[in-house]
Amino acid sequence: MSAVQGLEMLAAVRPMPGGRVFNFSAGPAAMPLEVLEQLRQDLLDLNGSGIGILEHSHRGPVFDALLAESHAAFMRVAGAGKDWAGLFIPGGATLQFGMLPMNFLPEGGHADYADTGLWTTKAIADAKMVGKVNLTFDGKSCAFSRTPRADEAAPSKGAAYHHWCSNNTVDGTKWSVMPTAADGAWLARDASSDIFAEPLDLSGHGFVYAAAQKNLGPSGMTMVLIRRDLLEKSCRTLPSMLRYDEYEKGESRPNTPNTFGIHVVGLMCRWIEKQGGVKAMERLAAERSDIVLKAIDDSGGFWKAHAERWCQSPINVLFRGPSAAIDAAFVIEAAAHGMDGLAGHRSTGGIRASMYNAMPVAGARALADFMRDFARRRG
Ligand SMILES: Cc1ncc(COP(=O)(O)O)c(C=O)c1O
Repeated sequence: MSAVQGLEMLAAVRPMPGGRVFNFSAGPAAMPLEVLEQLRQDLLDLNGSGIGILEHSHRGPVFDALLAESHAAFMRVAGAGKDWAGLFIPGGATLQFGMLPMNFLPEGGHADYADTGLWTTKAIADAKMVGKVNLTFDGKSCAFSRTPRADEAAPSKGAAYHHWCSNNTVDGTKWSVMPTAADGAWLARDASSDIFAEPLDLSGHGFVYAAAQKNLGPSGMTMVLIRRDLLEKSCRTLPSMLRYDEYEKGESRPNTPNTFGIHVVGLMCRWIEKQGGVKAMERLAAERSDIVLKAIDDSGGFWKAHAERWCQSPINVLFRGPSAAIDAAFVIEAAAHGMDGLAGHRSTGGIRASMYNAMPVAGARALADFMRDFARRRG
């Protein structure tokens, strides 16, 4: 079947309310229907103001209130107290790859980085543009099929911070134990693909960032949590848009911010609270990934998981069939059965099921059923 035929069939199969399909995309990713419907309304008229969210001034009273609410909801779900600043920053998580070292990697010093996947490799490359990097773990030798064990990834003396990525979106791995930072230093976490999919453990951290396009809604912006004492240490010689203290001073609007994105993040955080909060999200993630992993285990070796099971991500499940051609056929046929976005990252190939907070358990069941059916027919 060609990709075009696949799309034609997809148009005919709509397994969810509102004519929607199960979207397994790694990000931008599925959002709750309830939030999308609220946004449809808010595009035309935000809170009875007669003006839509895209049209409101970022300095007007309606947006003032919205910004305060979105910020408060984010900080509540994060469980971040007064010691933390929460910032809405444009530019995606990739901007943080450079902004973090530009602000906190001192001249002549160094920072620790654990390399656990494509995104950390990119973060390391950007940090090296700024200063010295010490690798605490190099996952390239095992094709990023695992994260460090408890006795690996030790921090080095004098490092300014230790950067880690808790959930590796491309390879579908997560850390089973949190790393530590050198004496007097702090952890910096890329939580782009698991923020609010479980309770956020801020202990040992000075900095947490997450691209919003997975569990928080809009692409092109990033949530940053930064310990307040570090704000004072932001590099003073950088242009204003690259300084964390400038975002904090300007309430995340040192310039005209992404007003729509800020609204979406607020709605997503309130939706998470309504579902029972991050603990409920964690239970759902485990339920969904167990369903898909069981289909891999039951396939008699037809499907093989990429990640070692002890560090398997409950969010991104990566697997392969007997050949690249079979994987490609699966992705197209799955689309024809109302399951979209299953192709692996372009750097790894294979099949990747990304199941963020908005993915219903029914989506994982539909995928597992189809994996069984496909393996029976092709095995
Ligand atoms: C773990 C992780 N870090 C960073 C990024 C980069 O995010 P962005 O494209 O918003 O810069 C991604 C994107 O998927 C990611 O999954």
